Amino acid sequence: MIGTNGVGSVAGGLADQLRNPHGAPGRLIGAAMRLVNRQPNSFAIQALDVRASHDVLELGFGPGEGIRTLARLSPAGTIYGVDQSPTMLAQASARNRAAILRGHVQLSRAQFIETELPEQSVDRILAVNVAYFWSDGPAVLAELDRVLRPGGRISIYVTDVATMAHWQFSTSGHHRVFSASQLSDLLVDGPFAPCRITVKSITLRFGISGLLGVVAKPR
Ligand SMILES: C[S@@+](CC[C@H](N)C(=O)[O-])C[C@H]1O[C@@H](n2cnc3c(N)ncnc32)[C@H](O)[C@@H]1O
Repeated sequence: MIGTNGVGSVAGGLADQLRNPHGAPGRLIGAAMRLVNRQPNSFAIQALDVRASHDVLELGFGPGEGIRTLARLSPAGTIYGVDQSPTMLAQASARNRAAILRGHVQLSRAQFIETELPEQSVDRILAVNVAYFWSDGPAVLAELDRVLRPGGRISIYVTDVATMAHWQFSTSGHHRVFSASQLSDLLVDGPFAPCRITVKSITLRFGISGLLGVVAKPR
């Protein structure tokens, strides 16, 4: 029988894998994320309004499904992705091999606060299920502002604390969780004009409450 500590350590292990997928469990987590994160990715990518020649950055690409969709939406742009996990880099690279060989997709192992992209090099930034791991939110937002071109847009999805509170892994200390006002406060505290920030609540399958934050950078 698994006691409270056993359940707690399983939840902690899952949270740690979601933050930094590694080894065989990390590969399984990647396969699961590809399926369960499809709907939030779809909402966030729709809000991004990607055009055919946009250069796009995905922050924390995980298994690389979002990268694949972005590459389809922008055949004439370059799709960049950064993620700290070598396991996810391998999975996403395998999933986007042909586009990587053509130079259409460029994936690298890097940190949210140091994407290693040049200043004002992208038109769009996608960040799905990653803000939980922004231990230094202002530093991440400063980095996004640095690489985003004027007129650019950022789309951020997180699951609402109202749902996350029911998921034991999210309370094990690895995730920062958000209500709509907390996500809004995070974004407003960053370098972007408050009037160009929107946060809206969305409902996903199985009654999951999500939050979609969109930031538009003035031209
Ligand atoms: C929960 S997964 C989300 C993956 C993908 N966006 C999706 O929706 O399926 C979070 C991803 O962020 C990455 N990550 C977490 N902290 C990071 C950091 N500080 N710098 C770069 N990547 C990070 C993890 O390696 C993982 O692949």
